[in-house]
Amino acid sequence: GLSTEKLMEKMEQQLPEDVYRLLKEIGETASELETPVFLIGGIVRDILLDRPNEDIDIVAEGDGIRLARGLKDAYGGEVVEHESFGTATWLTTSGLSIDVVSSRLEYYEKPAALPEVETSVLGDDLQRRDFTINAMAIRLNEEAFGELIDPFGGQLDLVNKNIRILHNISFIEDPTRIFRAIRFEERFGFRMDEQTEKFALESIDKVVHVSPQRINEEMKRLFKEGKPEKVLRRLFQLQVFQQFGIQEAQMEAACTSATTLVKLYWEQAQTESAIDEEQPSAFEYFLLPFYGDDKLFASAKFALTKKDLNLLEEITELQTETNWSEATQPGDIHLRLHTYSDEAILFVLAAEQIPGHDSVIAYLHLRRSLSKLLTGADLMTAGMKPGPHFSAILLNMEACQLNGDITSKDDALQWLSNYEENRIREVTADEIDTR
Ligand code: CTP
Repeated sequence: GLSTEKLMEKMEQQLPEDVYRLLKEIGETASELETPVFLIGGIVRDILLDRPNEDIDIVAEGDGIRLARGLKDAYGGEVVEHESFGTATWLTTSGLSIDVVSSRLEYYEKPAALPEVETSVLGDDLQRRDFTINAMAIRLNEEAFGELIDPFGGQLDLVNKNIRILHNISFIEDPTRIFRAIRFEERFGFRMDEQTEKFALESIDKVVHVSPQRINEEMKRLFKEGKPEKVLRRLFQLQVFQQFGIQEAQMEAACTSATTLVKLYWEQAQTESAIDEEQPSAFEYFLLPFYGDDKLFASAKFALTKKDLNLLEEITELQTETNWSEATQPGDIHLRLHTYSDEAILFVLAAEQIPGHDSVIAYLHLRRSLSKLLTGADLMTAGMKPGPHFSAILLNMEACQLNGDITSKDDALQWLSNYEENRIREVTADEIDTR
């Protein structure tokens, strides 16, 4: 195990200076209040892994609210109390938010266990957690700052790259932990140990009892974390998909598309000077097979949000559009695709394995930096009567902009007057025709 000195050193190196100082202050205040206090959960794991994390969860053995008040008295800031939960959030003057949780009162009230009360109360909290790597704590009290509390061998599992549950019914108690396990596997490059995987498989039929909202959230978190095709295969391997009726062939098709999507995305990211979007979600790959067959089922089963549904709607619509990817001029592509989001377009390019998608990708770049040269007001100033044709005119102008034929507002106004003339000429020609 890691010595207290070593861990203290690690904390000092790992954590931002203000966070480290704050933890020391918390320990000092808690010692004055004779309250054992611990840093707990994900941040402990990440300190040991040398990974950044500033999600500070504190457990006080005793009254967490009193500790939060004491911290406010000593160092300022604000305290938000949640009386019925025995928890409080201390908002520090430097803008950090520290959650302080009281350890459970039923244990606190057991006077006979006094000498052991400290470890058993904390132990009880740790025991409720999902995996050994998340079930560690670091003592913050002044006299023992930096002492690692690791009753389940989490530190060794970090070294061995193991995701391991604490007891046999962990997944049955909370089937969302199966998603969490895969998420941690992907994030850290770890693997469930044999026993844990066996228990996951044995309790897999319980995932259908998880609320659709939770499934939706967990899926999205999962796909954000790992390579989509790896996540998809792992979900299949652990029989998660099968619980929702997804067949192997559907999964394989989704994997192929997912791989292409990621590739397309990175191609795009590399040519983009700054990308502010997130990696496209592969959640839709998981959903699409259902969605095509039974929309109501899919939206009920996975609590699809309006945004999810819109995207799926766009995707299915775009998939029925013919030859849309054959246009090569960005302006022509724009006339066909202007209503579709980047995400939907990328998705369909990937899903259909469309060759020669370069021009569509190039179009997406251009579209992103498209500036608005004219508005409806400009058209009116030019003497045109407002109406639904305004959007058609503006769209045509954008198409010329994308083709590089219009680069300034002057160009645009010039184009507009030609456009008007052409239109008048067409109308006159029509009139001559009909005569
Ligand atoms: N936890 C759990 N079972 C769950 C969800 C959470 O036991 N189904 C516990 C874990 O011990 C975890 C802690 O609650 O460490 C906090 O949960 P969360 O913030 O979701 O996870 P982190 O471990 O902090 O992971 P992340 O880095 O993704 O925030």
